[in-house]
Amino acid sequence: MNLPKLKIGDKIASLPIIQGGMAVRISLAPLAAAVANEGGIGVIAASGLHPPELVSHIQQAKKMTNGIIGVNIMVALSEFAELINVSIREKVDLIIAGAGFSRDVFKWGREANIPIVPIVSSERVAKLAERFGASAVIVEGKEAGGHLGTFDSLFSILPGIVKAVKIPVIAAGGILYGADIKKALSLGASGVQLGSRFAASEESSAAPEWKEAFIKAKKEDVVIIESPVGMPGRAIYTPFVELLLAGRAPKPKTYKKCVKCLKDCKRNYCIIDALVRAQQGDVENGIVFAGERVGEINDILPVKKIIQKLVDEFKASMTEVV
Ligand SMILES: Cc1cc2nc3c(=O)[nH]c(=O)nc-3n(C[C@H](O)[C@H](O)[C@H](O)COP(=O)(O)O)c2cc1C
Repeated sequence: MNLPKLKIGDKIASLPIIQGGMAVRISLAPLAAAVANEGGIGVIAASGLHPPELVSHIQQAKKMTNGIIGVNIMVALSEFAELINVSIREKVDLIIAGAGFSRDVFKWGREANIPIVPIVSSERVAKLAERFGASAVIVEGKEAGGHLGTFDSLFSILPGIVKAVKIPVIAAGGILYGADIKKALSLGASGVQLGSRFAASEESSAAPEWKEAFIKAKKEDVVIIESPVGMPGRAIYTPFVELLLAGRAPKPKTYKKCVKCLKDCKRNYCIIDALVRAQQGDVENGIVFAGERVGEINDILPVKKIIQKLVDEFKASMTEVV
């Protein structure tokens, strides 16, 4: 049996696979376009990009593919409204909003006829999103990399959310193999979103040192950190993370002037700087976000191969006798 298509608003992807937006500067035009070219939905992460840079990545991605390109914009960003505005102007195919809840974004999406897809972790917020006009929701469980909205596992919260709403539900967090896709679909999901697997791809925009740290990480190297956004986050243990966990991470003012990139920031350290340092190769002094199952990812593959494997594994899992 083949994987079903994924319909979100008036957009139809030939595969029900979304590449999760990954900040900072991990999922840019090359990764998003590669996923879209294979029939999935490619997503450019806006965190850490100013509006003109996001415009440039959307335009680059559109030159590289005729497939579906979305953007992932954190509600917590100070430039949230501007980033949405330029994404609408550039006619992205869909907008994914994470790390917070915005009512305005649904109105902007409706006016521009662009599907809005919030990331949720509870039935209450999923229902609220549907009521405001979400075209689909992404349910993220505790297994996900990056900021976390819950400590409950994906498969414990997915069925309740599927039941609570009529719009398509996309499952995210800890999806690595075709059999995981089969499980998510059997629980009522219309598709899946993968982050970590695509981070370890040839097309992701991280430095080789970042990718090396990612594929070397073992299960026990993954820890929960406190983000200045006010949410927990899942990351790989590095010397910087060690300082952070000990409450000794350097404060922003000790190494640069704060640019107030977040609407509300605890200012105990600068997470954008730490993510950028790692993305550029200084892993020791930075933060590498990663999903709970990063220990199972041991290779950097081209996107084409990652997707082919997922499709083949899904088919094989459907013929397994249980
Ligand atoms: C390196 C990295 C950066 C991420 N950055 C973001 C982000 O900027 N915005 C967001 O909504 N989710 C972010 N995520 C979450 C992913 O989009 C995705 O939902 C999640 O990684 C799925 O879990 P998985 O890694 O187990 O596949 C990030 C994840 C990783 C691994």
